[in-house]
Amino acid sequence: MELVTEDNITELAARRWATARDPRTRELLTALVRHLHAFAREVRLTEDEWMAAIQWLTATGQISDEKREEFILTSDVLGLSMLVVQMNRRFDEAATPATVLGPFHIDGSPELAFGGDMSDGVPGIPLYLSGIVRSLDGTPVGGAVLDVWQADADGNYESQLEVDEARLRAKYTTRADGSYCLRTIAPKGYSIPMDGPVGDLIRQTEISHFRPAHVHFLLNVDGYQPLITHLFEQGAQYLDSDVVFGTKEELVVAFEPREPGPTPDGGVSDVPWVEARYDFVLQPA
Ligand code: BEZ
Ligand code: FE
Repeated sequence: MELVTEDNITELAARRWATARDPRTRELLTALVRHLHAFAREVRLTEDEWMAAIQWLTATGQISDEKREEFILTSDVLGLSMLVVQMNRRFDEAATPATVLGPFHIDGSPELAFGGDMSDGVPGIPLYLSGIVRSLDGTPVGGAVLDVWQADADGNYESQLEVDEARLRAKYTTRADGSYCLRTIAPKGYSIPMDGPVGDLIRQTEISHFRPAHVHFLLNVDGYQPLITHLFEQGAQYLDSDVVFGTKEELVVAFEPREPGPTPDGGVSDVPWVEARYDFVLQPA
């Protein structure tokens, strides 16, 4: 029998978890044991600290439900979500980069036509976002579905409110020439939810808990890799301190103020509006 010592416990635990029958599970669990032990050794983890961590994890689970994912938020603010995206979505340099999905995407958004208004009745400055979806070689991609969602002017997503109808989210399909056009309201920067365990940790630091103004996109079309990304407003506050590390230079777009008059959907606005243009470039599957 091999007695447990402070020196051999890491090896004993890793060997035990190496009995996992699936090779990938074995690799993940043995590496997890080694890294957890190395962490505890490096910081000389105390029993009080261990208990505080257990209580924090318990609270993180308890506040989570089908609408609130505090563990994903934890991964986001630690930079883990963006690291995983970047390792797994290594697109061509010319393709639009991928970012985090975030916790507020809702499946089954209503389908709107070219220029359709996904902000219907939600107060804000009208924003028209338009452009072309292309392949890496420049070919326009028709039939691509853009699933779009964003927060309102108070920083709330639909899933954070008690509403019965789809709010600030919709799906648009590109025309044969790859063009899309959507109408919404100009987004604003907002705070991530700070009333849970993640907020408790962030308040102990100098970390800004804000995200810069952005609109979320999930693009899907046969023959190309799905693209989860955001567009950010050029010059917005928090661009260089995004709490979830989601900002990338290629995704920063000018939001140009426009006087009342013709809009990109062929209509006319009788109030001042904002225009942004962006061409998405998809990575072939
Ligand atoms: C978001 O932009 O919706 C988001 C992403 C990650 C964490 C919190 C919010
Ligand atoms: Fe967001």
